[in-house]
Amino acid sequence: MASTRPDHRIVILTGAGISKESGLDTFRDADGIWAKVRLEDVATPEGYQRNPRLVHDFYNARRANLANPSVQPNAAHQALARLERDWPGEVLLVTQNIDDLHERGGSRNLIHMHGELFRVTCTACGVIREERGEIDPDTVCPSCQTVGTTRPHVVWFGEMPLEMERIYEALETCRLFVSIGTSGTVYPAAGFVQAAALAGASTVELNMERSVGADLFDEHIQGPATETVPAFVDRLLAAS
Ligand code: APR
Repeated sequence: MASTRPDHRIVILTGAGISKESGLDTFRDADGIWAKVRLEDVATPEGYQRNPRLVHDFYNARRANLANPSVQPNAAHQALARLERDWPGEVLLVTQNIDDLHERGGSRNLIHMHGELFRVTCTACGVIREERGEIDPDTVCPSCQTVGTTRPHVVWFGEMPLEMERIYEALETCRLFVSIGTSGTVYPAAGFVQAAALAGASTVELNMERSVGADLFDEHIQGPATETVPAFVDRLLAAS
């Protein structure tokens, strides 16, 4: 078990695996999103340039799915909110996920490094606004009235993830780094464990299977997030 003084900062990274038991698909599992649609077509600036309507259809469908009442935060999301509330030091949650289940599970100190499904942005004026419905190439920006410049506020491959400076500052000062439900295949998130370890943090991975970077962690806890995360939070709080 990683030893951490109660007043120490914890940084948590989550990926699609933490939302799987809420009914949202992961990307690289056998039944994942990239087994059904080419990421080059829907998650790159080039794909958007080539066929914006295809990209809008893809995110409109995911937005509708996320808005489905059957999709709710699970015990893992709720356990992380409990840790943020009850841990004597800071808990910073960095998620690669674009769903809003961490917020709905009660987390507040949260960074969406890959953007958010329920937000869109205008490439003409830069305004970022909430959008729970559909957008398409004919959408008019309500701020600057430009047509066709509204896109998902989602970071695509080849684009810079959000709030990287704040994330690295936290990694370099944390005493515990926890990675949950991510395959460890996409950078820069896949490299966070090394930044934390270099700064002297203990590192723990909770995942359904050993991730690509599993050997970089001090500890690996295998199993579904709704079982492993609440138990891990109990362990941390009992030691605080
Ligand atoms: N509990 C815990 N882990 C799980 C569960 C579960 N119930 N179900 C699946 N997993 C694990 C899988 O074993 C896998 O290692 O979650 C991980 C999901 O990996 P990916 O599908 O690659 O998702 P993620 O790591 O979040 O992808 C990172 O890639 O496509 C881009 O921008 C996208 O943010 C995404 C990034």
